[in-house]
This record gives sequence, structure tokens and C-alpha cells, in this order.
Amino acid sequence: MLRKTLLVLGCFGYAVRPAEAVRATNNMTGNSQGMEDRVQKLLCNYGLLTTCLDAELSSTSMFLWPEEELGLDPLPHPCCEKSKCAAINKNADCTVQCHVAFRPPPEGVGVDMFLPRECAEPMTAIKPYVTPNRLRPTAVAWGEPNEKVLAFKGKRLDISDGDGPGALMVTEAAQWHAWTIRSMEVIITGGQGFLGQELCRSLLKADGLLDSHGKKLEVKKIMLVDTMAPSSRIGVNADEKVQLESTDITYPTQCCALVGKVPTAHELSLFHLAGVMSGAAEKDFDLGLRVNLDGTRHLLDACRARTQGGAAPSKFIFTSSLAVFGETYGEQGRAIGDTDKIVPKNTYGMTKAVCELLVNDYTRKGFIDGRTARLPTVIVRPGRPNAATTSCFSGVVREPLHGEDAVLPVARTLPHSVTSTRALISNLVILHDADWPQTLTDRSANLPSRPCTLQQLIDALYEVVPEDEHTKLGKIVDKEDAFLSRVVGSMGSNLSYERARELRMLAVPDLKIVIEEFLEDFGEQSVVSRKRRKIACGVFAVNSKVLEQSPLWATTLPRAAPREFHVDVWPSEGDLEPYAITVGSYEYQLTGPRSQVFAVNGTAGSVLSHVRGLRIRVESNWGEDHTLLCRVRVFGAP
Ligand SMILES: NC(=O)c1ccc[n+]([C@@H]2O[C@H](COP(=O)([O-])OP(=O)(O)OC[C@H]3O[C@@H](n4cnc5c(N)ncnc54)[C@H](O)[C@@H]3O)[C@@H](O)[C@H]2O)c1
Repeated sequence: MLRKTLLVLGCFGYAVRPAEAVRATNNMTGNSQGMEDRVQKLLCNYGLLTTCLDAELSSTSMFLWPEEELGLDPLPHPCCEKSKCAAINKNADCTVQCHVAFRPPPEGVGVDMFLPRECAEPMTAIKPYVTPNRLRPTAVAWGEPNEKVLAFKGKRLDISDGDGPGALMVTEAAQWHAWTIRSMEVIITGGQGFLGQELCRSLLKADGLLDSHGKKLEVKKIMLVDTMAPSSRIGVNADEKVQLESTDITYPTQCCALVGKVPTAHELSLFHLAGVMSGAAEKDFDLGLRVNLDGTRHLLDACRARTQGGAAPSKFIFTSSLAVFGETYGEQGRAIGDTDKIVPKNTYGMTKAVCELLVNDYTRKGFIDGRTARLPTVIVRPGRPNAATTSCFSGVVREPLHGEDAVLPVARTLPHSVTSTRALISNLVILHDADWPQTLTDRSANLPSRPCTLQQLIDALYEVVPEDEHTKLGKIVDKEDAFLSRVVGSMGSNLSYERARELRMLAVPDLKIVIEEFLEDFGEQSVVSRKRRKIACGVFAVNSKVLEQSPLWATTLPRAAPREFHVDVWPSEGDLEPYAITVGSYEYQLTGPRSQVFAVNGTAGSVLSHVRGLRIRVESNWGEDHTLLCRVRVFGAP
């Protein structure tokens, strides 16, 4: 009876191609009775099963197809290894069947279902026990539920068990559905560090991340991984979605155990931020290699094993540095772009450069879906000075704001590439979500940066802080350090970031805004007032634009209406070029409605969260020698 009433067994979601479905379901082992037993157990928990049986929920088709029929190569799962199976089951004769493929439901058919792998269960080979039906692959007959089932009408019940996410829904049509909920888990290494905490904060506020198919998934859990004891300064550690993990990435076993905590059926996005900074790596060569290079490789290998175990390739976001260019900066007079040769001139840069190549190759091999962000120096970093050679670019603002003296170890006039904390975090997410061209082996992008000197930061600081509070600021003392001057001097500041522009990453706001943002986000210890200056255009996220013209009958010059136009936005006042990004190109239709709505394209919604200005560029009109714009309205959340 149960055999007839149960739904499809599988670990896939809606938009899954057969190849992924096979990956996702290869990890399913066990005999059919075992699976049914577990479904039975789950449904019993909700008091549904016995009545379901009584009510004889009629035939629900099963899409259980042998893999050979789909013509796909079987992918091995670690549980398929006999030795492992034997160890788990304490039985040398254990037989395992791992290569059963399930037909994924076509997109939008809200059916189907869960069941988790369970390596620990005894496993026996199974054969599909439902004849494949290619002609009616989506045939699903839902039974008429009885009263007990109807009591759950409209409610979604979580019937997750172990690592198999699932849901059961009794719909308005008085039918019941069960289907897979694909969920995403995030690992942030270096999660107790500056950027790890900020990224976590941002992800907790976001409505999800895009998986490799461009589908937005809710982030169910964020694992903050570090060797450092957690601080509760900004409270993210206390969030119920956050799990704190004490893992030292220099140990491969710890990395495997960490990644192994994410069920194979879930999507994994790993933001790899752990590392030792430039000063520390330069002083301790072995430490630099062990953490930055070996640690990254261990994480990559852990993700590779996960993929080989049947999971979809994890997204792996690696935080590199503009320090990878080193000697390339010596070629004066031209901007250094994404594809320039990486010739680092310090150990830190070297470890990052090697890892960039590893990320490329692990991606090429299909082990991960990797992306590398080349970070400029992020300012203004809160807390105490860190071991980065460029620490003074934060210290010159932070220390005076805390009423402390700032010591400048490098010349005030030395230009250096920086970004703001908020822009950087948004850009890491944009890089994560980006649909990276499949044909491009190189997975690295220079992140948006802007050159600045310590003197420019000092000037901006004195502009942001009201004049009557200048005396409260700590002093700025010049004390040049030959080592730091040499290292920072070897980092160029003339950088371009074409890929970031293509991905519509957020440009760096002007320095005054960077300082204001610091005061707003981390200004608790500030000795000056934290009142934020009003910004003329406000901060908004543009959802769509409406262009309105006079109705044709109300104008003698209808052809003066705009035709093709582009919309650019920029993140700070007065800083249009080169920081403007084009968020869309549109055509206003002369004969269309008077008011026409144009949606902002692609990922621009997140890009635009910091917009300060917007420009409409009209390319052509409908035939007049001048163009008349009547009204443009911009909509978005405040
Ligand atoms: N902040 C910047 O200006 C900047 C610029 C360029 C690149 N980056 C890169 O971005 C990443 C994050 O930078 P950040 O400013 O947050 O650094 P951070 O120093 O604040 O955080 C790094 C974290 O990594 C942890 N860590 C170190 N060794 C570890 C190990 N063996 N196992 C687990 N955790 C370990 C540390 O405890 C620390 O909490 C780093 O990889 C850094 O190289 C940062």
C-alpha cells in the first residue's frame, strides 16, 4: 500500500538538469523498503501516515529511472567505496548501490521529494521498481486527503530529516504535495575577522544567494570558521542562523570535517577569508605558506571530495589581493587590469597568486565553482591596527576619531588603492552571484578601487568632522618606517577593473563618505558626533524607472520624445566618471502608453543600494532636432 502512495524519491529541486539530478541523487543509497520506512516515520510524526493509508491516497507516479537509460556516467559517492561502507556498517560483506538516477521533475511542477542518504544504514542493491515512463514523465496523481490531512490545508510542514530537506504541503486544491526544498549553507573562513563578520552581517540581512543555476536560495545556515575566539561586538555570532566553528585550516582533516558538515543535498558557498596578512607573512615565511597556501588547498580539496561525493560543485569565493601584481606595477604609466601578469613581490602576494591559479584549475576540473576577488586595502577597518603593511590607511582615520594619535609609517603623498567596507562586502556578494563565463579559465577579478594618499584621507577627515570638534581628534605623527615604506611603495595604485564593471560591481564612494560610513557602522568609540550628513539624492535601491511624456494629443512635438536612453548611477556625489555604472539601456516607445516602466537589469538591485546619483543619457529621439523629457520617476525601497 505504502509503495503506491509514496511520492518520488530524490534529492533534487525544480530547475535541475538531468546531470545535476544524477549528481544529487547518486548519494542515495539504501533499499526501497528502508526509504519507505523513513518516509513512514516522518509522516507518522505529523500524524498523517495512518490516515493517509486508510484513505488510500491513490497512485503517485515514481520517476525512478536507471542511470544507464539517461546515458550519464555514474558518479561515485564515498559511500560507494566498499571499505568505507564496511567500516560504517561494521560488515565486510556490505553491498552498495549508488548509481540509481532519478528523473527530475520539470521546472514548475511542484512535486517531489526528499530522501536523504544515510551512509550508516545497511545498504543493498536496488533496482528501479517502477517502469520508466518517458511519455508521461510528469504524471502525478494526487490522492484525496482525508480530514486529518485537510487539517493541514495551506500549511507547509517541514519534514526534513537528517540531511534531506523536504516539505509537505496540503494545497488549496485539497491535495497534498511533497517536494524538495533546496537550501544553501554558507561557510565563511576567517569568520571572526574584520571582513568575515561584516560579510556575515550582510548575508543575514540579504534575501538569499544565487546558486550555480542563477536561482536564489535562502541561506539556512552560516558557519563562521576561525581559530580565534568569537567576539560578540556586532552580534552576528549570536544569530540563530550562525554556527561558530573552531577550525584550523592548516589541518586537512579539520577542513574535511568542516565541509562534511554540510549535507550533500544542500548547496554550499564557501567564502574563504582566513589568512595571515602581508606584514605577518613577510616576517614569517613558513606561517604565510602554511595558512595562506596550504590552508587554501586543504579547503579546496575538501570541496573537491564533496563534489566527488555527489554534491553540486561548491561556490568557492577566494579573497586574494592586489598585492599579486608586485613587479607589474613597475610598468609605469598604464593601469593594471584583470589579466595583467601576476608577479608578486612579497610572500603574502605570492601565496595569493598561487591560490588564484589553484582556484582556476579546481574550477576547470569541475571540482568547485570558484571565483577570486582581488581586494584593494579595505578602509576604515575597526578595532586595533592589524598586521597588514597598509594598516595606516585605516589608522590615519580611526585613531584620531578615537582621540588617539595616529603614527604614519609611510609618506603622506604615497598613493595606494583602497575600497570602502560596504562597497567591498557588496562586491563579494555580486562576485558570488555572478554568472561567470564558462569559457573563461581565469576566475579572478580586480575589485573596484580608488587611489588615495594618507594626506587625502586626513583632508577628508577634517571635512567630515565639524570644525568645532577638530580639537577632539587625536594628532597625526609622521614616523617613516623603511620596511613598510618599501612594501607599500611596491604596491601600485593605478588599477583598472573591467570585469568588476561588467559584473556591475559597486564603485568606491568618495573618501568623505567612506569615513561617514565608518562612523555610522563602527563609531561607538568615536570622540566626535556621529550625525550623518544628509546626502542630496538619498540612499536608495532602484527597482524600476518610469519615464513619462506628454500624451501625443497634448503636444505639437510628439517626435521630441526620447527613444534610446541609458541610465547610469554612481555611488558618491560629484564623482561621476570613472565610477558611474550603466544599469540599463532602454527604448521609450512613441506609440506606447504615456507612462512607460523600465526595470533595472540583472543584479543592479543589490549594486544600487548605495547610489547617490543617477543620470539619464538620451541617445536618440523620434525625429525632432531636440528632445523633451517630461518626467522620470525612480522607484525603490528607501
Ligand atoms: N582587509 C583588507 O584590507 C584586505 C585586503 C586585501 C586582501 N584581504 C584578504 O581578505 C581576507 C580577510 O581579511 P580581513 O581583513 O578580514 O582579515 P582578518 O585578519 O581580520 O581576518 C582573518 C581571520 O583569519 C583567521 N585565521 C588565521 N589563520 C587561520 C587558520 N589557520 N585557520 C582558521 N582561521 C584562521 C584569523 O584568526 C582572522 O580572524 C584575508 O584573506 C586577506 O588576505 C584583505
